[in-house]
Amino acid sequence: NHINEGVVTWSSPSNIALIKYWGKKESQIPENPSISFTLNDCKTTTTLKYSKKEDVNHFSFEIYLDGEQKDDFKPKIETFFKRIEHYVPFLKEYHFTIETSNTFPHSSGIASSASGMSALALCVMSIEKALSETSSSEDEMSQSYFNKKASFLARLGSGSACRSIEGDLIVWGEHKEIKGSSDAYGIVYPYEVHDHFKNYQDTILLVDKGEKQVSSTVGHNLMHNHPFAKRRFEQAHEHMSKLIAILKTGDLDAFIEIVESEALTLHAMMMTSLPYFILMKPNTLEIINAIWAYRNRTKSKICFTLDAGANVHVLYPENEKDAVMEFINNELVVYCQNRHYISDQIGFGANQI
Ligand code: PMV
Repeated sequence: NHINEGVVTWSSPSNIALIKYWGKKESQIPENPSISFTLNDCKTTTTLKYSKKEDVNHFSFEIYLDGEQKDDFKPKIETFFKRIEHYVPFLKEYHFTIETSNTFPHSSGIASSASGMSALALCVMSIEKALSETSSSEDEMSQSYFNKKASFLARLGSGSACRSIEGDLIVWGEHKEIKGSSDAYGIVYPYEVHDHFKNYQDTILLVDKGEKQVSSTVGHNLMHNHPFAKRRFEQAHEHMSKLIAILKTGDLDAFIEIVESEALTLHAMMMTSLPYFILMKPNTLEIINAIWAYRNRTKSKICFTLDAGANVHVLYPENEKDAVMEFINNELVVYCQNRHYISDQIGFGANQI
């Protein structure tokens, strides 16, 4: 390798799944296909500085979050490097300084693994690209190869991270009706999407900013020997088939039904595993009931979705923005910790800085 040192920076967003990934096989291969909206404002920015070192037997790196050294992140990064080393064999030749920061507060209960792991994977890919450009035998790396491999690497860091490279709708996991879909990386949803979904809004209500009660690693493992796992994985496939038609026609009532069912199913899987968990808080249910009541008394098409935690993502079309924000401010912020929420919307993926 001909490069002694360099620096690269990527900013990469979080994403919110409409059809959930919950359950995996070896090597972060998902048990079912999932699809997500890429977010716009919830992002991680990561700068990776690299310099050639003598010893090539070990990984060597240090990590800073908002300027502060974070040794507790080291095992996760070490595991990530080990998993991807085979595909990016130059990792042990360099010492890395990883400087990272999130646009959302790190104690907000918003998972930073999707944005964080995708940002780091993109930085690693930029180094691979720089190295390949110095060796004359290689053709220039295409954008599509770059994105695909970045998504592939990000998946090995955190499954859902593979859906954060591009936007605005990303499918991960093989589905018989989605051409090009793969268990190994995310792809841009390849079919027609109705204008109703353009600039779709996601307001994240921060019900509980505490540490996650169940790590996603533990959570995915709960699907092994789960009494309802097989049926759940089939259901995700069925939901995806239905969603393809819904995205085309813009049938928002049908969209709501699938998205809310997916959120509740995710939580139902946790409630029916052994050990079992309830990750919703009383205020999560207050919010869900308030959303249902609002939908009953107005013509609104808002709906909710949940990740593996108590916070609520409120999804709605852009043309309802003023009305929904008024509803949120008048009726829902009381259920948020310190009245805290994050306004986001559908976005188009990562950017090099
Ligand atoms: O990427 P992981 O392993 O942290 O899994 C996240 C899974 C959910 O966020 C709960 C659902 C999803 O598809 O994003």
